[in-house]
Amino acid sequence: MAAKHFLTLLDLTPAELRQLLARAIELKAMQHAGTLYEPLKNRVLGMVFEKSSTRTRVSFEAGMIQLGGQAIFLSPRDTQLGRGEPIEDTARVLSRMVDIIMIRTFEHQKIETFAACSRVPVINALTDMHHPCQLLADMQTYLEYRGDIRGRTVAWVGDGNNMCHSYIHAAQQFGFTLHIACPPGYLPNQALVDAVAAAVRISHDPVTAVAGADLVVTDVWASMGQEEEQAQRQRIFAPYQVTAELMRLARPDALFMHCLPAHRGEEVSAVVIDGPQSVVWDEAENRLHSQKALLEYLLLPRH
Ligand code: CP
Ligand code: NVA
Repeated sequence: MAAKHFLTLLDLTPAELRQLLARAIELKAMQHAGTLYEPLKNRVLGMVFEKSSTRTRVSFEAGMIQLGGQAIFLSPRDTQLGRGEPIEDTARVLSRMVDIIMIRTFEHQKIETFAACSRVPVINALTDMHHPCQLLADMQTYLEYRGDIRGRTVAWVGDGNNMCHSYIHAAQQFGFTLHIACPPGYLPNQALVDAVAAAVRISHDPVTAVAGADLVVTDVWASMGQEEEQAQRQRIFAPYQVTAELMRLARPDALFMHCLPAHRGEEVSAVVIDGPQSVVWDEAENRLHSQKALLEYLLLPRH
């Protein structure tokens, strides 16, 4: 049987995603209570990072250790991948040695090619197109603070990037309305939007996007790989900063999320990210718990 992969949020059904979040909350409680739970003893996660990471690396590595397994960090600088060994060959070899693989890379096509050649489950740990693991943590965090997100309104303000694309998938899978505000020329992928047209409203106006929102989300203006566009983007995106004034237009109990790392004074003001509506530290912690639930789901399918 072909291995089950997690390349986008669409790889799980809405019911499976909800079950996974419930399990993440259970695993978090166990972790906080100091309960030892090691169902992945002797299992190995291979972690391929072609871009930098703090949260993703540490949460996957710590998560595997806590579940009784091990993780191996692989960077292109030190592997043959960086010297041009084909992605297909790397997938064939790694997947005969480890039990599960996560990849952070550039082109989304690359992870699809890798997964097609892998005997074991492959997890998308961020591509230029999607960041589904972050959405598991974000959806867990909303659930913990405010309950079911179904029927709520989420405002995405800023770049139509990989995180925005995963929010578009989340709108479809979790049943919320997504208001997106991006500068002209920085809109999300049209095909993704068309697939969920009823759930998504796009504009260039942060004010209308945030009005009445239950959750306001933003991300960096220049993603990894776009460093040379930083100065130009800073000018173009300036009216899209999530400020206290903008947050006041959302519902009074609205939450603020950011996948991090953040740039205070650029996409978000310090008073917002460090203020009472911000849940970014719980959001970051939940990377650990939701990915442990994901690892368990992919490796122990009975859970
Ligand atoms: N949010 C996130 O994926 O962070 P890292 O780049 O530190 O992994
Ligand atoms: N959009 C950002 C997310 C980082 C976690 C990037 O791709 O760099």
